[in-house]
Amino acid sequence: MDLKSAIRTIPDYPKPGIMFRDVTTLIGDARAFRVAVDRMVQPWAGAKIDRVAGTEARGFILGGAVAHQLSVGFTPVRKRGKLPHRTLIEEYELEYGQDAIEIHVDAIQENDRVLLVDDLIATGGTAEASIRLLQRAGATVVGAAFVIDLPDLGGAKRIEAMGVPVSSLVQYE
Ligand code: PRP
Ligand code: HPA
Repeated sequence: MDLKSAIRTIPDYPKPGIMFRDVTTLIGDARAFRVAVDRMVQPWAGAKIDRVAGTEARGFILGGAVAHQLSVGFTPVRKRGKLPHRTLIEEYELEYGQDAIEIHVDAIQENDRVLLVDDLIATGGTAEASIRLLQRAGATVVGAAFVIDLPDLGGAKRIEAMGVPVSSLVQYE
């Protein structure tokens, strides 16, 4: 099945010149969603994953499904200020300014083997911050799985340079 045909592209969103790859159409299509989750899991099936972490917001949907498929727990990596218990926080640079993500202090057990999941990797800034946060919490981040890679933006190379292998299902230049 061609997953690209299930992904909608919105030109000029959120800014002129950006081609926004919208996975809501993929996850809204039962067959495409099933195929995407099966393919995301495949490279990591023998990797002894203890836990999936997913980044807000679309990483929750895909990561939850991947965790269920692997029969492991799920850890949400949330934007600043959303989690109720004590957290670890990691700040990262955006194109303009800074943002921060958080996990609960007790979300990871020491040496948990974690697979990070998100819908898309662009510059890799979000994934890098997520990996640092998970590592600070004691995780071994075994890999990072995305539906979409935008290789021109260098994110996958940046994450592999941290020693974390990356998988993706479709790529857009
Ligand atoms: C998007 C996407 C990734 C991130 C990728 O999330 O879902 O999390 O950007 O970009 P990067 O590789 O350059 O860091 P977005 O910031 O749109 O947040 P949202 O899911 O909360 O809408
Ligand atoms: N889609 C979703 N998230 C994104 C994109 C995109 O095209 N580019 C950067 N983050």
